[in-house]
Amino acid sequence: MPAKHNSSPAERAAKLREQINLHSYRYHVLDDPIISDSEYDALINALKAIESDHPELITPDSPTQRVGATPISEFIKVRHAQSILSLAAVYDSAGVRAWYERISKLIPEGTSVAFTVEPKIDGLTVVLTYEDGKLTLGATRGDGVIGEDITANVRTVKSIPLALISGAPAPRRLAVRGEAYMPIDEFEKMNAAQLSLGERTYANPRNFAAGSLRQLDSRLTAKRPLRVFCYAMIEWSEDQPAPATQWQLLQTLKAIGFPVSDISRRFESLDDVITYIESFNDKRDALNFEIDGMVIKLDDLKLSEQLGAVGNGPRGALAVKFPAREATTILKDVQMKVGRTGVLTPNAVLEPVQLGGITISKATLHNFDDVTRKDIRIGDRVIIKRAGDVIPYVAGPVVAARTGAERAILAPVNCPYCETGLTRREGEVAVYCPNLDCPGRLDRAIEHYVGRVALDIDGLGTKIVEQFINAELIADVADLYMLTSDDLLKLEGFADKKVQNLLDAIAASKGQSLDRLIVGLGIHHIGGVAANALANYYGSMDALLAATAEQLQAIDGVGPVIAESVLAWAGRSSTRELICKLQAAGMNPMQEPRREPVVTEGPLTGKTFVITGGLSQSREEIAAWIESHGGKVSEGVSKKTSYVVIGEAPGASKVTKATTLNIPMISEAELRKLVDGLG
Ligand code: IVH
Repeated sequence: MPAKHNSSPAERAAKLREQINLHSYRYHVLDDPIISDSEYDALINALKAIESDHPELITPDSPTQRVGATPISEFIKVRHAQSILSLAAVYDSAGVRAWYERISKLIPEGTSVAFTVEPKIDGLTVVLTYEDGKLTLGATRGDGVIGEDITANVRTVKSIPLALISGAPAPRRLAVRGEAYMPIDEFEKMNAAQLSLGERTYANPRNFAAGSLRQLDSRLTAKRPLRVFCYAMIEWSEDQPAPATQWQLLQTLKAIGFPVSDISRRFESLDDVITYIESFNDKRDALNFEIDGMVIKLDDLKLSEQLGAVGNGPRGALAVKFPAREATTILKDVQMKVGRTGVLTPNAVLEPVQLGGITISKATLHNFDDVTRKDIRIGDRVIIKRAGDVIPYVAGPVVAARTGAERAILAPVNCPYCETGLTRREGEVAVYCPNLDCPGRLDRAIEHYVGRVALDIDGLGTKIVEQFINAELIADVADLYMLTSDDLLKLEGFADKKVQNLLDAIAASKGQSLDRLIVGLGIHHIGGVAANALANYYGSMDALLAATAEQLQAIDGVGPVIAESVLAWAGRSSTRELICKLQAAGMNPMQEPRREPVVTEGPLTGKTFVITGGLSQSREEIAAWIESHGGKVSEGVSKKTSYVVIGEAPGASKVTKATTLNIPMISEAELRKLVDGLG
C-alpha cells in the first residue's frame, strides 16, 4: 500500500503545502511551471479538503490562506531592525561618474570594484520578516524607522513566499526588502474594471499598488494583482553565512524563494554600467512594470557598509533616474471654462511645476465624472501627466499626502457666466450650458469662426475678438460684417492701416468655401470632414437648412450623431436668424451639389481614423488622402476608431479618450506607412 494512505492528515497537509509551495515558486520566481493551472488547483483543493475536516491543522503559512483575513480597524506600528534607507539620485552619466569619483577616494587603493545594476521599480517598499522559514511579518517602510504591520495584506500577494524553500540556505531569522508593484497590463485591466463598476480609478500602477496594500480589509488586497521584487537584506541571522556581494544576495534570495528581477546585471567597469543603464531609456516601455530609473550598487557589501551613509542614502548605492513622466504639485483652485458648444470644463489652477521642460500652472480636469472617479479635491497634492507627452492633465490625487483640509470639487448646478441651469446630453459626460447666447461661449464661438480651420480671417485673434465683444460691437459672427472703420478707430490700438487690413480680411472671408463656413458655425460634432461631406452634398446654406434625416443618413462620413446634430441646429430659430443675417451681409457661399456616394477600396478599407493637431497638410487634404486609400475619417474618438493620428498641439479630449479606450495613437509618418507598408 502506498505510504500516503498510512500517513496522518497533518502529514498529508504538510506534504501538500510543500508541493504547492514548490510549484508556486516555479511559477512566480523561476518562471518555469511544470504543472498546469488545473493541476495546481487540484492540489489546493485537496489541501482545503483536509483543512476543512481538520480546521486545527490550518497554519498561517498555508497557501489556502492567501484569500485575506477579517478586516482590522487600524495598522499596528512596528520598528524596523535597521533603518530602511533611501537613495541619492542623479539624472545622467556625468552624475554617475561624479558619484564614483567621490566614493573612490574612500575606497582603499588596489581594491577591485564591481557593481550590480538593478531596475528601480516604481512601487512601494515592503519589509518581509521570516522566522524558521515562515513569513511572520510584512511591514511598510513608514518613516524608515517605524513602519506599519501589513502582514495580512502581504500574505495575499502570491509571489511573496509564505514559507521559504525547505532545505535552501536561508537563515533562521531573515528580513528582506522588496518593492511591491502592480504589473502595467493588470493595472490597465483593473482600472477599466473599476471604471465600469463606477469605482475610483488610480493615476498610476504605484498608487494602485499603494492603495491596495494599505487596505484594512485584506480580502480586498487579495483581489488586486500585486507582485514583488526583492533586492536587499535587512536582517540575516548568523546561523547561515550571509552573502558577501549584492550579486550573490540576489542569487541567494532567488534560491530560497523570493522573486528577483531578471534584468539585474553585474559589471566590472563603470562604462559598462553606464551603457547598460542608457539602453533602458528605450527598453523602459517594453517592461510590464514601471521603473523610474536604475539602481547601481557596489557589489561588495562589506565595502559598501564601510562607506556608510550620507543623508538618508548609503554612499555605496545610487539611483539613476529617467526623465520624469509625471510630477506632483498642489491643486490650488478649479476654474470653469465654457467652450464654444457650451461644454463646461473644470480646469485646475496649480502651484507651478516643471515637467518635460515646461512649467505647468494650469491643467485640464477633463470633466466632473472624472474628478469624482479619481476623487480629486482642492488642496490635494495631485499627479500631473502630459497626454501624448503634450497636454497637461491631472491624473489623480496623492491620497497619502492628505491633511484633512482638502475640499471636494462640486459640479456647478448653474452656469458661472449666465446662471442658466446646466444640462447633460445623454451618453456624454460633459456638462453643458444650454444657453446659446451664453456670454461664456460667445468669445469662443467667434474665435472659432475667424480661426484657421474655419473662415481664417487674418489679423483677427483672441485679443481683438475680446475687444470687439467688450466694446459691444459684436454679439454674433454676422456682426463682424457690419463693422465700420469708425467703429474700429474708436478702439485702443487701432490706426488707419490696421483698420483697413482688418476690414479687408473680413470682407475677403465672404469668398471662403461653404465647408469652411459650416465649420465656422460651430455645429456640435461637426469638424472639417463632416463639413466637407455636407457642403458637397448640399451646395448651399439654404439647402443645408432644409436637410432631412433620410438625406443625412445617406451621406458617407455623416453618422447618426452628426445627422441629429445638424437637424437640431437647423431647427433652431436663432440659427435661421443668424444665417439670414449672414446672407444679408453677403456671406452665402455656394457650390455644385454632388449627391452620388463616393466608394473607394484600398489598404485603409475598414479602418476609421480621427485626426487631431496640425499635420503637414490641411486636415481636409489628409482626410481626402485617407479616403482615397479606402479609409474613413470621423470627428470623434469612439470604440470604432482604429487609429488617432496625432499632429502638433493635439486636442486634449481626443488624446485622453484614445488613451482611455486604448486606441493606438500614430504620427503622420506612421499613417503613411500603413499605406506604403501594405502597398
Ligand atoms: S535600494 C539602502 N534597489 O527606490 C538601499 N531601491 O529612491 C536603498 N527601489 O526607497 C534602496 N527598486 O523603495 C533599491 N532595486 C532597488 C529598488 C529600490 C526600487 C526604491 C526603494 C527606495 C527608492 C529610493
